[in-house]
Amino acid sequence: MTLFRLDASIRVEGSASREIADIVEQEWLSAHPGDPVVRRHIGVDVLPADAWGHAVAGSQTPAEARTPEQKAAVALAATLVEELLAADAILLAVPLYNFGVSQHIKTYFDLILTDPRGASGARLLAGKPVVLATVRGGAYGEGTPRHGWDHSTPYLRRILGDIWEADLTVVEREFTLVGVNPQLDAFADLAAEMHRGALESAREAGRALGALARV
Ligand SMILES: Cc1cc2nc3c(=O)[nH]c(=O)nc-3n(C[C@H](O)[C@H](O)[C@H](O)COP(=O)(O)O)c2cc1C
Repeated sequence: MTLFRLDASIRVEGSASREIADIVEQEWLSAHPGDPVVRRHIGVDVLPADAWGHAVAGSQTPAEARTPEQKAAVALAATLVEELLAADAILLAVPLYNFGVSQHIKTYFDLILTDPRGASGARLLAGKPVVLATVRGGAYGEGTPRHGWDHSTPYLRRILGDIWEADLTVVEREFTLVGVNPQLDAFADLAAEMHRGALESAREAGRALGALARV
């Protein structure tokens, strides 16, 4: 059994999304000791920003007529698709940046969508167990002033769940900037409760992922 793990934080130390993903990964490994975990950290090992344009042009050009840049971009998109296809379970850790997804995540999804196997209607992840760990510095729940400003989680759900038809579980943590931004100090208790809840949800999601991927 193989777990594919994608991290999108632009940092490693102190990353809240990695903390959740580490727990999910550990739970998965307890069900599959010694099995491989294939990793890609796109926030640090960044995909080329111009690859998507070349992959789109390359996908509309006969293979023998592609430029070297188009060939490389089409091959990169194919590699990303094959990583997902080869995995029995998938774990993605994605923070909210500037009210949406980072350019790193957007490039990752855009590239995969250029490959016929990742295109809309191709059901790339049909029924495959996927855990999405997503974190936000602020809070966007119903009744908060910025309710609806998180344009990342709905987008990720749309692609993973609706377009690629994954069996998707989302683990969320908010207020990760409490303790970092003094303006949020009043929310310390709530943030601590959210942190505890997210780690518990991560343990549950990891156990379920391990059990599902065994089937
Ligand atoms: C450049 C940048 C932009 C951010 N934009 C937002 C934002 O729009 N909304 C929000 O709630 N948090 C925002 N944050 C906070 C991150 O979501 C938060 O720090 C999160 O924990 C980062 O993920 P990580 O801990 O895995 O690195 C931003 C952080 C950075 C560095």
